[in-house]
Amino acid sequence: MTYKKHLITAALPYVNNIPHIGNFVGSILPADIYARFKRAKYGAQNVLFACGADAHGSPIVIQAKKEGVSPAELVAKYHALHAKIFSEFNISFDGGYGTTNSDAQKKLVHELFTALDNNGFIEERETVQPYSVDDDMWLADRPIEGTCPKCNYECARGDQCDKCNELLDPADLINPYAADSGSRNIEMRKTKNLFYRHDKVKDDVKKWVNDTAENNWSKYATQATKKYLGEDVPNPSVTRDLPWGIPVNKPGYENKVFYVWFDAPWGYISISQSARADWADFWHAGTDCHYAQFLGKDNIKFHALFFPGQEIAWADGNFKKVDLLKGLAFLNFEGAKISKSNNHGIFLDDALTDAPADAWRYALIASAPETDDTDFTIRRFADIVNKDLNGVLGNFVSRVCKLTEKNFGLVVPTKEQGTGTGDLEKNINDKLAELTDALEKCEFRKSVATLREIWGAGNKFLDETAPWTLIKNGDMDAAGAVLNECFGLIDFYARISAPFIPTTTEKMQNIFTTTNHEHDLSWPTEYEHRIKDGTEFVVPENLFVRIDDDKTNEMTEKYTGKK
Ligand code: MF3
Ligand code: ZN
Repeated sequence: MTYKKHLITAALPYVNNIPHIGNFVGSILPADIYARFKRAKYGAQNVLFACGADAHGSPIVIQAKKEGVSPAELVAKYHALHAKIFSEFNISFDGGYGTTNSDAQKKLVHELFTALDNNGFIEERETVQPYSVDDDMWLADRPIEGTCPKCNYECARGDQCDKCNELLDPADLINPYAADSGSRNIEMRKTKNLFYRHDKVKDDVKKWVNDTAENNWSKYATQATKKYLGEDVPNPSVTRDLPWGIPVNKPGYENKVFYVWFDAPWGYISISQSARADWADFWHAGTDCHYAQFLGKDNIKFHALFFPGQEIAWADGNFKKVDLLKGLAFLNFEGAKISKSNNHGIFLDDALTDAPADAWRYALIASAPETDDTDFTIRRFADIVNKDLNGVLGNFVSRVCKLTEKNFGLVVPTKEQGTGTGDLEKNINDKLAELTDALEKCEFRKSVATLREIWGAGNKFLDETAPWTLIKNGDMDAAGAVLNECFGLIDFYARISAPFIPTTTEKMQNIFTTTNHEHDLSWPTEYEHRIKDGTEFVVPENLFVRIDDDKTNEMTEKYTGKK
């Protein structure tokens, strides 16, 4: 099946903290690589990559309280910080880093609620909710903690246990206490809330997953979705007693807001609406569009069940449902969970002081937790930078440019008529097909391995043809022909590496000071030698800097909080 339009979303991060490498590699980085690949292949106008801040929910309220600011101030502060960080890592969101704190979002969610209510998918129920008497406030989701009924972890949050990942309801907690004040003076008080009738749509969701959704969802997404489809998932409450969020547009609910997970996925649509005038070409069903979602494994339930279920329930909305759901596992660091409070892990505001964005992008995607939780270490990072980026790619570019400059000056030598390149071209074309296929399927580790092999083919060609020996023997024509081929490879490498390492790619293209293809980065269908004889070039600075043992030790200490 070929599609005309390509819609891509990455889970919207809560803007209550500074993202770390695990957050980054779990959704936004792979989504960006995929988006860049698709733009190169299908044209930028046919690709929409939407992401932004998840601005609501109790995580925001709690952090705002901690920092002594209002939720709105907190959201503004961290939204700006996230936007800056992601732009430094060259994330190519369409329309910039969006937010759910917008009029577009409020309008959309109110329309959604009205439609669901009119169509019979909303139910009012009287329930008991925890209320902190000492603090004089309701404790929805995270402001309440207690012992997990499943694994007995003593600091489980009201919405989810951080130890066993079970999704929880505040009422499930054993020995609950107010997270903020620590008070155990908790009363269960009666209140009314609205519930989404997932039970009424769950058979349709099942049918959609079985019949329509692609069968190449990631392992985690498939496993989790199958499990949820087989059980009776309780109807979730969609309203909360919180002072921050989208107000509930129903009489009698003036003091409540929508539950953050009710509005958040719809942020993909409202952010698209703010980003692009042609958003409807992507978002309306029947528009010949392919939709891929990137998210962490703890978010699968909301993306595979509730969001599509609500899209089905709001039949007239006619919104596009996901085709490919890429749920990634977690990235640990040096053998432990990444944690700000333990000062353990690499946070994105700090990482660029030690290495450039492309080094992180490449090393992280090469370590993507695609099938299981994965441990990332500084030693691993250094190895990847030193071997792949510096040793294979950087070294090739530098050898070619320096050898040519010394013997031919700063122009690409002439390719002799009829010089063969042996198996080079066939090898590269085989690997290119593998790379393209892996990227289409979102198999990132495989795509990196294949890319590295294609880079390696250049070094192998250089070693086998040994132009330095040809030069020594006075065979300048043959040496020139080899180097000419290598310049073609540099340009080709820039094209196929661009989704992964966009800044380096630009440096590689800027090697050529006179070109006739305007640094076009379209995705090639086969190896194409675009560099003409006599093209002028400059010798670039080293593309990557080696990370030596001292630096490796220094970074390990710094990021593991050992002082
Ligand atoms: N904010 C959630 C988290 O960080 C993810 C929300 S994804 C959304 O876990 F798209 F639904 F917003
Ligand atoms: Zn638990």
